[in-house]
Amino acid sequence: MTSKEIRQKYLEFFASKGHTVVPSAPMVIKNDPTLMFTNAGMNQFKDIFLGNSAPKFPRAADSQKCLRVSGKHNDLEAVGHDGRHHTMFEMLGNWSFGDYFKTEAIDWAWELLTEVYKIDRTKLYATVFEGSEEDGTELDTEARAAWLKHLPEDHVLTGNKHDNFWEMGDTGPCGPCSEIHIDLRPDEEIAKIPGSKLVNTDNDEVIEIWNLVFMQYNRLADGHLEPLPAKNIDTGMGFERLCMILQNKKSNYETDVFSGIIGKVGEFSGHKYAEGGDVEVAMRVIADHIRAIAFSIADGQLPSNVKAGYVIRRILRRAVRYGYTFLGFGEPFLCRLVPQLVEDMGEAYPELKAQQKLIENVIREEENAFLRTLDKGIRMLEDNMAKNAATKTVSGVDAFVLYDTYGFPIDLTQLIAEEKGPGVLQRGARQAEGACPQRHRERIRRLDGIPSRRM
Ligand code: SER
Repeated sequence: MTSKEIRQKYLEFFASKGHTVVPSAPMVIKNDPTLMFTNAGMNQFKDIFLGNSAPKFPRAADSQKCLRVSGKHNDLEAVGHDGRHHTMFEMLGNWSFGDYFKTEAIDWAWELLTEVYKIDRTKLYATVFEGSEEDGTELDTEARAAWLKHLPEDHVLTGNKHDNFWEMGDTGPCGPCSEIHIDLRPDEEIAKIPGSKLVNTDNDEVIEIWNLVFMQYNRLADGHLEPLPAKNIDTGMGFERLCMILQNKKSNYETDVFSGIIGKVGEFSGHKYAEGGDVEVAMRVIADHIRAIAFSIADGQLPSNVKAGYVIRRILRRAVRYGYTFLGFGEPFLCRLVPQLVEDMGEAYPELKAQQKLIENVIREEENAFLRTLDKGIRMLEDNMAKNAATKTVSGVDAFVLYDTYGFPIDLTQLIAEEKGPGVLQRGARQAEGACPQRHRERIRRLDGIPSRRM
């Protein structure tokens, strides 16, 4: 099944169950001070859950563009280093606004996975919430009973608040959840250790597919849970991961969601994904980041020096740096990937196609500006780190000198430092005080782990 068919079948299935198929909300959020980017399918329905606005229909389904690069859900630094983390991803979701609840959500999830997508039912596990004394919540017996209609007892597990209670952020709509996991290991491995022992243990082959959230509380700023006016359903299934499973691949990046872009990166650079190592990592970083960048621009967020724009600029620079360092790109290359992206995703997301030229131009300009400082700066920073090899540190002062004398952006120092692990940058910012502009002083201060009051 192609990824386009997989997305289509999801939407058709829920339409056949009385759901209205709605378009994805923009990935960039302009009117919610608690959130810069859409980080879950439910964001656009937050006000309905809270009872602040009335739903237009009782059931909805969609494929939502999400970006997890800031706040409670932030995967940026992990992207590229394995086959399953993303900044931008699509979340397939179905919603009930005070209409159906746990049993239907579970029955339909089961039907879709086993009858439409034809996933082997013996490989599936479900988890339900065990309850929390702290929050005054109890074991989710309703979800457990619903799962026991489909799965044997040893495939229905309980999980704690960390895994089985979903929250949008520190405050806001939340509730117990029931996750569906799949065991992708070969049968001989399964015979040795049952999958039930590996659910939620960070095993690469026993992974979550779908999260069914029973959205019934609002977390208040003081930490208390208040019941929502109605009981709702919010489900989210990672589309790229579902494609990996249904296309029998080892990594999301090997599916047809990414293979077109990775093929182009290979064509432009002369490298092959199969080379492995840093080349493979760089190709994954680029294939992931170009989507985040292009969709943000399509949604009206240009790269800039502040807030959401700064996040996008950092993602773009991370992609350029990987391309430059590991694939030998000395000229803009991200902008050249946009036509392929439009071919892959322009049908499902027409905004991408409509803004293709703008997206290409903005990216090209950003790449050019950044490449000008990259070469020089990276060498200087590496010399600097080598000089301090014993302590593995770069002081705030050195970071400032790189910025001030050589025009090497502080955020890039930060980016490289983050990738080399903690402890690379060191206190020392105070000595740089007074000499650099306020916004860079703030950043040096953050790099050095000094609280950000007056400097
Ligand atoms: N809100 C849940 C999640 O993001 C389910 O959609 O995982």
